[in-house]
Amino acid sequence: MKQFIEEPVFEKIAEAADELGLPAYVVGGFVRDKFMGRECTDIDVVAIGEGSGIALARHFARKLGIPNKVNVFKNFGTAMVRYEKEVEWQIEFVGARKESYRKDSRKPIVENGTLEDDQNRRDFTINALAISLQKENFGELIDPFGGIMDIDKRLIKTPLDPDITFSDDPLRMMRAIRFATQLKFEIEPGTFNAICRNARRIRIVSKERIIDEFNKMLLAKKPSFGINLLDKSGLLVLIFPKLVDLKGAQMIDGKGHKDNFNHTLKVLDNLSANTENLWLRWAALLHDIAKPITKKFDPELGWTFHGHEFIGAKMVPKIFAELKLPLNDKMKYVQKLVLLHLRPIILAEDHVTDSAVRRLLFEAGDEIDDLMQLCEADITSKNRQKVERYLKNFQLVRQKLKEIEEKDRIRNWQPPISGELIMETFGLKPSKIVGEIKVAIREAILDGKIGNNYDDAYRFMLQKAGELGLVKKA
Ligand code: CTP
Repeated sequence: MKQFIEEPVFEKIAEAADELGLPAYVVGGFVRDKFMGRECTDIDVVAIGEGSGIALARHFARKLGIPNKVNVFKNFGTAMVRYEKEVEWQIEFVGARKESYRKDSRKPIVENGTLEDDQNRRDFTINALAISLQKENFGELIDPFGGIMDIDKRLIKTPLDPDITFSDDPLRMMRAIRFATQLKFEIEPGTFNAICRNARRIRIVSKERIIDEFNKMLLAKKPSFGINLLDKSGLLVLIFPKLVDLKGAQMIDGKGHKDNFNHTLKVLDNLSANTENLWLRWAALLHDIAKPITKKFDPELGWTFHGHEFIGAKMVPKIFAELKLPLNDKMKYVQKLVLLHLRPIILAEDHVTDSAVRRLLFEAGDEIDDLMQLCEADITSKNRQKVERYLKNFQLVRQKLKEIEEKDRIRNWQPPISGELIMETFGLKPSKIVGEIKVAIREAILDGKIGNNYDDAYRFMLQKAGELGLVKKA
């Protein structure tokens, strides 16, 4: 008999199961990843019999002397054990179930079941593989739906009629596309057609679960693959309609503009080749999000998208809230990159002056390197010469950024004169005029009119205050 698992942890689980007289199996993602040669430390164990998942988890942990490492979720009939032995294992124990979902509810009706029932109710053939932990056939693979064959064929396919599998949990439509994107698999045509047919049922799934899958897709090597499939299946317009609004290239008087949907996906892929940062990838996805609403045709200039970076940045909080993305500093980070995404390009096209570079450094702060990455990814022109010219200019901008930062330390910079000092010097209470003087000092430094030091700034403060009719306190 061929044995497919060799990690010692499985013998321990098998022993515990044997002592309780419970048949147990490793199932799901771990088995799939094992056959694909991928690292996986999350193990799902299914035991047969009522309450068997929790009982097995408790017994297993007791045997290992770690009874306090069991987390029981009674309502779900599951228990999680964390076990550290060379590897940090997370083992989830569950009783085999027969599960089906009512038509318009997310709440499943759960009954105890056999291993076969459990495999039947899983999402894809590649996830419905089981390995026995029983004494008589320890390590044997149970593959009723040809999951191994589908791994070889690189195919995502439901074990049962896809209409049933997707109706049991419509999130699986997103999962199909997510797995295809992550693993570079194809979706079997019957399964894909069922996604198109059932797309509207995604509405009964919580936004938190949907965005979780979307983010996993976004973190794949080539996220455009998944987003294009979402679009083709009809899911994208339901979960993220603003992205679909970017589609289309209009033509008037022989003047056209590029299709902003394809452009956005290209930028996202370009960027993804250089960063694993999810939020930087979100910035790529949203950088042109306001183009559809700012689009205008000017007979002289052709198509314009004036202010799309400002409007786009304003749209970010609402989009994050709608999609149930976090409304914290990650959102602020994306917003900042969307707002500034044209600045390095303008710099590169124009004369790269010290003051313009200083200003950009001040506004971008710690995000300057990420902003430069986004802008370089944003060059998607088919004209090689144009691309080379832009990239060369960007190199110049990067070099200037480095020089100015070394000289002036503008990143995370605070002007040398504070509001308190202004108030103290002129006997003022907090007021508009204090802000006015503070801004004037900051601008003078950023423009290079005065040096970035206390003495210059103090002298400038006295001069500016004098112009405004203020007198220094005796
Ligand atoms: N599963 C399912 N339907 C779902 C979610 C999960 O059938 N909507 C099953 C699959 O058999 C899956 C297993 O539960 O393999 C574990 O789910 P999960 O941990 O979410 O996924 P993994 O397959 O482990 O993959 P990943 O860790 O990449 O999410």
